[in-house]
Amino acid sequence: MIIRVELGERSYDVVVAAGARRELAGVIARLLPEAQACCIITSKALLGEGWFDIDSGINQYIITVPDGEECKTIAVLGEVLEQLAEAKLSRRDLIVSVGGGAVTDLAGFAAATYLRGIAVIHIPTTLLAQVDAAIGGKTGINLAAGKNLAGAFHQPRAVLCDTEVTTTLSPDEVRSGLGEVAKCWLLEKRSHSEIVSAAPQDFIELAVSLKARIVSGDEHEGGARALLNYGHTLAHAIEKLALASGAPMRHGEAVAIGLRFAVQLAHALGRVDEDEILETDAVVSGFDLSFAIPGEFRSDDLVQAMSHDKKAHHDLTFVLPGRSGFEVVSGINRDVVLGVLEEFRNHE
Ligand SMILES: NC(=O)c1ccc[n+]([C@@H]2O[C@H](COP(=O)([O-])OP(=O)(O)OC[C@H]3O[C@@H](n4cnc5c(N)ncnc54)[C@H](O)[C@@H]3O)[C@@H](O)[C@H]2O)c1
Repeated sequence: MIIRVELGERSYDVVVAAGARRELAGVIARLLPEAQACCIITSKALLGEGWFDIDSGINQYIITVPDGEECKTIAVLGEVLEQLAEAKLSRRDLIVSVGGGAVTDLAGFAAATYLRGIAVIHIPTTLLAQVDAAIGGKTGINLAAGKNLAGAFHQPRAVLCDTEVTTTLSPDEVRSGLGEVAKCWLLEKRSHSEIVSAAPQDFIELAVSLKARIVSGDEHEGGARALLNYGHTLAHAIEKLALASGAPMRHGEAVAIGLRFAVQLAHALGRVDEDEILETDAVVSGFDLSFAIPGEFRSDDLVQAMSHDKKAHHDLTFVLPGRSGFEVVSGINRDVVLGVLEEFRNHE
């Protein structure tokens, strides 16, 4: 399946297919006929995978970066930029990222800044990167003060989501991707009863189609794109406290908890009936996700972290369902949030 992200002259296709990585050479020849070289940015851990047979059809150099979140640092970005220059990559050449969301974020940011911007094609290799991180043009790295605090919007020229490469993912990584799929399932108002009959490729297509549609209408998150943060206010708070406690939590698993909390908050605010909570329970469980908050975090600390969410403007902001659909709701009373959180934790 090919899903188009419509952004005028920066529009691009997301290919979702078994073996999509093998389309790389053809895609480069078609979209970037003047390119003579590419740098493939990936992590060492992935080079040994049986599916790592990436062939760009032009001169290719491999740049390896540390695995996972470790690669999203200013130091690694600096090393990558130096290596791009050493490889004499020109403005007509390109970067190809092969990896999870950490690699696509870093490689996308390198592409946004090297020579003031060169082309990038993403080959996302985790479910989370296929359904979310590689699409939409957000790139970035972490700073000591927090995650994703430096970055740029830089759209890829194409995204190749290959369902063959995700077969080597650990079950935990698959579950993390499913957290974002569950979010899309709920935003698209799909029933929990449809989950069992859907194939993994259907999950990717549903999530990519939704993100492509939303990004096409709101590239820089001035409006509807913020709805993709459904479940993320509590998720970011849990991830932040979990990281500080030395036991980091996977993003999608935190999102699953955040989704269930958000619907309960919406119910407490009189925005939805109890049926919505039951349906969210069924969807989250249908994707084999839990909504128990791990660790011994204090509810006060979670609320404090939620009010410092980068996407809230110094108050408590949530994406919530309501009678007229999903909306960004700001300025929610702190005691209400704390009360619902306590109640939520008692029923986990
Ligand atoms: N730019 C965006 O819009 C956006 C959206 C969501 C998340 N993100 C970012 O994405 C990152 C998380 O991405 P992630 O969940 O993909 O994690 P990740 O990139 O850290 O990868 C997780 C692990 O999976 C391994 N892995 C990757 N592909 C594999 C494969 N096919 N087989 C076996 N192992 C494989 C990696 O080596 C790594 O150890 C975060 O940094 C987050 O901020 C960005």
